[in-house]
Order: sequence, then structure tokens, then C-alpha cells
Amino acid sequence: EAAEKGGYDHFMIKEIHEQDRVINDTLRGKVFEDNVKIDEITMSDEELQNIHKIHIVACGTSWHAGLVGKYILEQELRIPVEVEVASEFRYKNPIISNKDLVILISQSGETADTLAGLREAKSKGAKTLGILNVVGSTISREADGTIYTNAGPEIGVASTKAFVSQLIALYILMLFLGEKKNILSKERRKYIISELKLLSKKVKTILNNEKNIEKIAKLFENVNSTMFIGRNINAPIALEGALKLKEISYIHAEGYPSGELKHGPIALIHENFPTVAIATKSHTYEKVKNNVEEIKARSGTIITIASEGDEKIQDISDAVLYVPDTEELFSPVINVIPLQILSYYVAKSRGLDVDKPRNLAKSVTVE
Ligand code: G6P
Repeated sequence: EAAEKGGYDHFMIKEIHEQDRVINDTLRGKVFEDNVKIDEITMSDEELQNIHKIHIVACGTSWHAGLVGKYILEQELRIPVEVEVASEFRYKNPIISNKDLVILISQSGETADTLAGLREAKSKGAKTLGILNVVGSTISREADGTIYTNAGPEIGVASTKAFVSQLIALYILMLFLGEKKNILSKERRKYIISELKLLSKKVKTILNNEKNIEKIAKLFENVNSTMFIGRNINAPIALEGALKLKEISYIHAEGYPSGELKHGPIALIHENFPTVAIATKSHTYEKVKNNVEEIKARSGTIITIASEGDEKIQDISDAVLYVPDTEELFSPVINVIPLQILSYYVAKSRGLDVDKPRNLAKSVTVE
């Protein structure tokens, strides 16, 4: 097993460190200069053009990828997208027709609720598409099409590289539909693809800066409750940051869209309650910064994820984790990395079994 971990203490941190490569592996063979090709999607151009609504159905971390996917698809394509937890979707008699595309996101392709969601969607005549990591999995065999994420086997129960590869697959799907439905110009597609190709290097910069994040993990030493906040496309990243921390460190963690702070969670703030705020460059940067100020004014410990060059944010933060600059549309891929590393070091410093957290399973194949 030590050899399989490639010199790392745990699979989770090994897999975190694979992410710069995984991004390129997901793009490879699908993304070209100004277009994309997805061999496993067999729907006709006419069927693709007919799609007027998208549903994304998934569980756990894959559901968080779906929440980011909603922003990616709606912002660029202006097609309405609903995202649903699979265990809810399957029993709600969802409103879907044969003009709808239902996307199932699943690392394993075997999650019982997600599979049931797929069957429900098919029974109502919708077209179905899996975003899956495991080749030949049950969902891949039953869906009308698949985008494979090519992240390689993921051993750590808490998903890291599979999540990032799911995000990349969602950008690829956006490009694919944007071309088929004549929504995205050639120039726009070319630009998005060029930005996607820069992500691997940016992620590598963060991975090289791991020591800094390990130091910040010390702020969580005697803490038993925390919060993660973010806005717009990074609100789901706040949820994912909170999920990662609770899964492996057993620290209670809330994830919130930062605009909701005043509607409840601000009551939680005190000296020994750290908040991690995603405050990278975006069209709502000032709003998130105001939230950070509000927390500081109430003596909360505040750790910000900020864009390189934002020195001012240091004045209102107890610690700042700088990440490379990127357009808001792609920022989730960058911002989730320091959060994964942070939860890893918090759990490791508590001496916990990071790769096999209590009560959790890698793949939940029963309801
Ligand atoms: C379990 C795992 C999570 C995963 C979720 C969905 O809860 O512990 O890491 O996100 O299942 O799994 P899937 O294979 O469908 O992505």
C-alpha cells in the first residue's frame, strides 16, 4: 500500500496532488482549438438542438459539482438548469419531458439514488447523460451518453480529483451544447478553451504552496465548529469546503452563500469560530468583502481565499490564502484546491484516518 501511495502519507493527499494532471487528462481527446468532440454522446444534432431544459441529478460531492454546473451552463448558454439531490429527485415525480436533458454526475456510476434518478428520467422520456469516472459502470450502460472524466481510480473516500474532473467535464459539455445549439460563437469557444488549458498550471502553483496551507490548518486546532462562505459560482465551493472538513476531521462545518450570513449564521460568530471566506476577484467581490468585515467586527477568526495581489484583504483577515488570478467562470476549479488541502491537514493533525473516515463509504450502492 505504501508503494501505491507514491511517497505520500495518504491517498487523499496523493490524489489532491494529481489534480494538475487530471485537468489535462479530462481535456485530452475532447477539446481542440475551437471545438470539442465527445465520442460517447450518440444523440443526434436534432435531439441536442431540441433540448430546452437541463436537470442535474447527483449525490454528495458530485451534487456540488452539479451546483457549479448550473452556473456554468446558465451563464454561457442561457438554458434553465435545475440541480437536485438524487434521493429527492427520484421520489418527487419530477416535471420532465422529452425535450429535457437529465445529467447524472457520479464518480462511481453506481450510486443507488443517482441510478434510480436516471431510470425515473428515462421512464418520462428525457434524454440522459452521465458524467462519470468509472468506465463501464451501470449508469454508463443505461444512459444515452457519457462524458468520462478520466480522473483515474480515486481511493480516498472524500472525493477530490474526481470533483475537479467533473467540473472540467461540465465546461466541456457547455462548449459542446453551445456549438450544437449555435449559442456560442467560435471566438467565445476559442477563448474558453484557451482559459481551460491554463488551469492546470494555476492549480500546480497552489499545490506547490501547500506548506502555507498546512500552517493555516493550525488555526483549527481547538475548534469544534466552523463556517465556509462564498457567492455565485463559488457558493457551491463553500458547501464543498464545509463537506470536506466535516467528512474527514469530524468538525462541524456549515457552508453558506455569503449573502445569507445576516439571516442566521452570523449569530454563530465568536473568537473560537473560524470562517473561511472565498473572496477572489468576482463581480460580487465587494459584497463578500463586506461579509468578511462583519465577521471581523464580531471577533470571529477569518481565513480568506483571495486573488494574488489583493494585499488589502490582509487588514481584515487572520490569514490569507492567495490563489492565481482567473476569470470568475473558472474560479471554482482554483478555489476548491486550497480548501481540500486545508481539510486534509486539519484532519491529519488530529491523527484521524483520512482515507477511511468513520461511517462513510466510497460508493453507496444501497438506498
Ligand atoms: C459517497 C462518497 C462521496 C461521493 C458520493 C457520491 O457519499 O463518500 O465522496 O461524493 O458518495 O458518489 P458518486 O460515486 O455518485 O459520485
